[in-house]
Amino acid sequence: MSSILPEGYQPPVHVGVIMDGNGRWAKKRGMPRKFGHREGAKTFRTITRHAKALGVQYITFYAFSTENWKRPKDEVDAIMDLFEKNLDEVRDFIEENIRVRFIGDRSMLNPRLQEKMKGVEEDSKDFDSMTLILAINYGGRDEITHTVRQIALDVKNGILQPEEVTQELIQSRLYTEEIPDVDLIIRPSGEQRLSNFLIWQAAYAEYYFTNILWPDFTKKDLEDAVIAYCERNRRFGGV
Ligand code: FPP
Repeated sequence: MSSILPEGYQPPVHVGVIMDGNGRWAKKRGMPRKFGHREGAKTFRTITRHAKALGVQYITFYAFSTENWKRPKDEVDAIMDLFEKNLDEVRDFIEENIRVRFIGDRSMLNPRLQEKMKGVEEDSKDFDSMTLILAINYGGRDEITHTVRQIALDVKNGILQPEEVTQELIQSRLYTEEIPDVDLIIRPSGEQRLSNFLIWQAAYAEYYFTNILWPDFTKKDLEDAVIAYCERNRRFGGV
């Protein structure tokens, strides 16, 4: 339990964050969009640490979607560079006992980046103060397609019977595997949509939208989102 939250408030186990508004933040200052992403990466580090302080156990950041390849090449290159640089800094999280995981289709990423991702996952696998999940080249539909294809292959090869295909089996074959469903999804910048983020895992998620642009998102904003979540009544289809 966290001492920052009011007494009796249970933080969400798993928080998802759509880091939106970097481009607009930079544009407002007359700067190229990549400066917004650089500032957004700083916010990502601050918010990761504060989530841990609040008692969150899993936090997933939507860093790059399967649709983001449509952006101009120089912006995509700048974001990929930022990932590499941030992975070096993410190593500091390891010293803070944070486990790091990646979800998404890695095969399209630069092999050097893929190696670094593997190294960070391997070196942090036994840590347990919080799990940080980075969604890179991630799309919910892509994830479900990948899972269904794997299951279809197992059925074709006689390893699985069709009646063994349950919600639990599907869940265990998603990129998120054993990671619990997301409880709270935060989307800054005024947009109010899911944009293909954790679409299976968000079936019962609560949403928190704010007009603040991601680079301006503060620790206090995270607390406001978590407190709003704690004050909601989740019924999971019941009464
Ligand atoms: C969305 O804002 C942001 C992205 C597509 C990129 C986010 C990536 C980072 C912040 C780099 C962080 C690095 C790590 C390792 C997590 P947008 O560009 O869509 O903003 P706009 O809606 O204002 O145009």
